[in-house]
Amino acid sequence: MGVVVPLEDRSGAGELAGIEPLAQLVAPGMERVNAFILSRTGSDVAMIPEVANHLISSGGKRLRPMLTLATAALCGYSGDGDVKLAAAVEFMHTATLLHDDVVDGSEMRRGKLAARMLWGNEASVLVGDFLLGQAFKMMVEVGSLEALRILSEAAAVIAEGEVMQLSAAKNTTTTEDDYLAVVRGKTAELFAAACEVGPVIAGRPKAEQAAARSYGMNLGVAFQLVDDALDYGGREANLGKKVGDDFREGKITLPVVLAYRRGSADERVFWKRALEDGEIEDSDLTEAIRLLVRHGAIEDTLARARHYGAIARDALGLFQDRPETRALLDVVGFVTARAH
Ligand code: IPE
Ligand code: IPE
Ligand code: MG
Ligand code: MG
Repeated sequence: MGVVVPLEDRSGAGELAGIEPLAQLVAPGMERVNAFILSRTGSDVAMIPEVANHLISSGGKRLRPMLTLATAALCGYSGDGDVKLAAAVEFMHTATLLHDDVVDGSEMRRGKLAARMLWGNEASVLVGDFLLGQAFKMMVEVGSLEALRILSEAAAVIAEGEVMQLSAAKNTTTTEDDYLAVVRGKTAELFAAACEVGPVIAGRPKAEQAAARSYGMNLGVAFQLVDDALDYGGREANLGKKVGDDFREGKITLPVVLAYRRGSADERVFWKRALEDGEIEDSDLTEAIRLLVRHGAIEDTLARARHYGAIARDALGLFQDRPETRALLDVVGFVTARAH
């Protein structure tokens, strides 16, 4: 592409190990979560398990359910509600991915063709709805009305975030605050809920619930900021999705907000043509990346991510120094330096 984006240089193997302590700590619980997930994709309607398993068997990082297991363990929880809530959280996430790829017209997900490319948009939307329904059944089985309240609130807020983003699409007057409101809704809210339900089912005080929520919320914002940087600066082989999707869709993410604000009149004409009018040629993505680099927009998006990561770290200060606390701190390092 001819333009060196600094992002890949940061993703040294050492930093990426940041998710390993968490993965190891919750490995036995995650085995149960994965088994539980597979046991709930079944249906007499053959297309449902076909579509669901296509996406679920492609893996994904399983970051959100790991957070639920870790925050529950951190709070000394010892029932089996954490496994069911973690599975519910991953089902909600899987449902939003099925829906999101339809909304975004994306072709790739988790290194494979997106479900919509194989079964169509209608099937993707409907199977997403099925998974969301299954997620709520799992929550009811756990029997914590408070956990149900938190996760159902999250389901509504995620949808709100996605609709808010739809309204901001192709609009170059989108501000950084508008963008952050979208990110909090579409991504960070589920991270927040995934973390908050841990102390909730462990019966911990409100202050700990709020701290876990704050950790998840800020981690989630950092996660999406890095995702938006990777959409311009990442590698498809690492991401399992296409680079430049956001640009082709006219999605106004923080790298673009920054480059547009900092750009010349001529550059703004370029962004408007590409993003607002949707007149995009093959070479335009290269030009967009060149402008992002010129204005330090990717660098600064990552700097913002580290800022939210620091808030997430500080939120954990309320908890005792335990292996879970340290693993959750390491996750912040993973999220802010990840390449996938
Ligand atoms: C993708 O989330 C959607 C975003 C919030 C950017 P992940 O990157 O966690 O997706 P998987 O589950 O690992 O595939
Ligand atoms: C992520 O949306 C949030 C949801 C899936 C609700 P994006 O559209 O930014 O994420 P990718 O790039 O498709 O994973
Ligand atoms: Mg998308
Ligand atoms: Mg989207």
